[in-house]
Amino acid sequence: MEINKVGVLGCGLMGSGITQVSAQAGFETIVREVEQKFIDKGLGIVDKNLTRAVEKGKMPQEEKHGIMGRIKGTLDLGDLKDCDLIIEAVIENLDLKNETFSALDKICSDKAIFASNTSSLTVMSMAASTDRTDRFCGLHFFNPVPVMKLVEVVKTIATSKETVETCFEFCKKIGKVPILAKDNSGFIVNLLLIPYLLDSIRILEQGVATITDIDTGMKLGLNYPMGPFTLLDFVGLDTTYNIANIMFEEYREKRYAPPPLLKKMILAGYYGRKTGKGFYDYSGEKPVPMDLGI
Ligand code: 3HC
Repeated sequence: MEINKVGVLGCGLMGSGITQVSAQAGFETIVREVEQKFIDKGLGIVDKNLTRAVEKGKMPQEEKHGIMGRIKGTLDLGDLKDCDLIIEAVIENLDLKNETFSALDKICSDKAIFASNTSSLTVMSMAASTDRTDRFCGLHFFNPVPVMKLVEVVKTIATSKETVETCFEFCKKIGKVPILAKDNSGFIVNLLLIPYLLDSIRILEQGVATITDIDTGMKLGLNYPMGPFTLLDFVGLDTTYNIANIMFEEYREKRYAPPPLLKKMILAGYYGRKTGKGFYDYSGEKPVPMDLGI
């Protein structure tokens, strides 16, 4: 099946990134939000990213205009009716996702493919809210979407071979590297990443080493771009806590259980970079490790 028009649900960090890479690859892209201010904020990020590319001489000004011209923001779900592929990137609330998918199922063509960017819910739990379980899969992008090359294409027990093939082709067209994952909570990357991040918090709680030394250890010892605490602050402690809870709920295994320190930090409003405080304090010129009383 050929994809011409792409719909994106949610214009937050992930939704705006998906909108950018889709339009950048030449697809007409329409992004739906619930309030205009979220569209303005998300498309503002896209504009900023493209302006930076123009300023660095990596993109002609006309190309930026072309990309922005292919993007349309809307508050009306009905505007997504002629999309060939719809990628959902709203908050991890199953009821909200299913309400939206169910409404779209009635509006869109029978051929349209629905995909979710969920990081931890099972895709089948969303597909079941539609009558197109064969044309439903996961497309899990990574933050920051314009930079990160990977997309996990998630095949449920009902996803058709054609849907997977079309999504693989789409990912390649937008410059990403698709990999195939089964519909288990956490897919491939988060199945391994979340226990690693939670274990990092656990060894900090145990007093094994400081935030800085654990970060430096993993960064320089393994050539990771970021240590676990820098990455936790980057991903968001609230997001990590939410994913861990969903995975723990699914598997009932200790390795996915959020450690008490993570919960305390959520309660204190330390969500990471987005709130200015997490494992580091971002109020000064350089991030400084927080004194968490350990
Ligand atoms: N949006 C768009 N572009 C960005 C960006 C952003 N938020 N941040 C950086 N970039 C671009 C820069 O413009 C620059 O582009 P250029 O090479 O064309 O000039 C390039 O990325 C490199 O940026 P910097 O030199 O400023 O910084 P770094 O070299 O440190 O790279 C980074 C920044 C790409 C974020 C890097 O630190 C990194 O790879 N970090 C790890 C990110 C990661 O692990 N993400 C996965 C999170 S887990 C996830 O998303 C799954 C979810 O389900 C939890």
